[in-house]
Amino acid sequence: MKPINVGLLGIGTVGGGTFTVLKRNAEEITRRAGRPICITVVADKNLELARKVTGGDARLTDDAFAVVSDPEIDIVVELIGGCGVARELVLQAIENGKHVVTANKALLAMHGNEIFVAAQKKGVMVAFEAAVAGGIPIIKALREGLTANRIEWLAGIINGTTNFILSEMRDKGLSFADALQDAQALGYAEADPTFDVEGVDAAHKATIMSAIAFGIPMQFDKAYVEGISKLDAVDIRYAEQLGYRIKLLGIARRREQGVELRVHPTLIPERRLIANVEGAMNAVLVQGDAVGATLYYGKGAGAEPTGSAVIADLVDVTRLHTSDPEHRVPHLAFQPNQVRDVPVLSIDEVITSYYLRMRVEDKPGVLADITRILADSSISIEALIQKEAAAGESDTDIIMLTHRTVERNANAAIAKIEVLESVQGKVTKLRVESLS
Ligand code: HSE
Repeated sequence: MKPINVGLLGIGTVGGGTFTVLKRNAEEITRRAGRPICITVVADKNLELARKVTGGDARLTDDAFAVVSDPEIDIVVELIGGCGVARELVLQAIENGKHVVTANKALLAMHGNEIFVAAQKKGVMVAFEAAVAGGIPIIKALREGLTANRIEWLAGIINGTTNFILSEMRDKGLSFADALQDAQALGYAEADPTFDVEGVDAAHKATIMSAIAFGIPMQFDKAYVEGISKLDAVDIRYAEQLGYRIKLLGIARRREQGVELRVHPTLIPERRLIANVEGAMNAVLVQGDAVGATLYYGKGAGAEPTGSAVIADLVDVTRLHTSDPEHRVPHLAFQPNQVRDVPVLSIDEVITSYYLRMRVEDKPGVLADITRILADSSISIEALIQKEAAAGESDTDIIMLTHRTVERNANAAIAKIEVLESVQGKVTKLRVESLS
């Protein structure tokens, strides 16, 4: 059997994992793919590292552009990351008629529409299982396994770094800053953790999932993105007292007027399985009209877990590359002419429940004033805690959970609460999802 030839661009963590697993499981993978999958050439700026990982089993170069133009190469695996040279290489590979496998969520979330149009035109596949939730086959599930369903919503813990930090904050009562330091010391967070902790990485992944769940274009620029860096440890404790865990969720929900696409810290009932996903693990909960709720759990990062997803794509492409492009699984799960320009709703239009914490003077009538404002805004209270004022203090915390309301309404009520004389400072607002 003639092998299919792969050019690997980038042999860092994921590239190394891909190379190692492909070599270790070569026989099994060939039995599945129908022919050997051979990484013929590896491009990396660090040739010494490339030599160490490949052990002489592949040609090496520091010129990635030579790989995407190499007539021997059938599939280009892009593991460089970012939207600069990676975008140029992917578009060039497509232009040269090569299939592409990529783990690059930023590239797909921001330039996916352009890339898929180019791939469609050239009749090549762009596969991206490794771009969302590492080793969890969530793209396969959304694009193929759940194809009978009208997907109603999905919610995912799709960033391991932030989930690790939140678990540490809860387990050890740490502040965000201390938990981040722990995560960095253990290699779970990068030296510059901005993309992870500010929710950008999760928003890239949520954007990709929203596109294939609902048959809409990538609309990363419309996503609402809020990270965990401003999360106060006290809210994790209060949430626990109310029976909730706080997770950074990527949420995509279909509504009549459009799609909600948002990433933010979210209270979830602790009895939900997904609320118990701890440490650096990932999980995605998908609600389909026929199947109901399905939950996908596993490692969202790391050399071999992510390599596992890259290789799954390589096998798919190997099986399908001789088939008529019209008979392949569409890139975005829906036929290209059926992708609909459904708008992403602004965060003001999102409908959810809220956790509100406010510092108030402990005196008669304060609670009545606050609840009156909420009642006048048709916001119903689901639960409420008022802490006893600490000895010698005249202020205390009120924590409440509301029923669902549109965010604009919640914000207007909060603004009115904040100007009450007995309320000190800002009201802390977090969103709550029952995920039922
Ligand atoms: N940095 C990501 C995370 C993994 O922390 O989950 C790669 O997407």
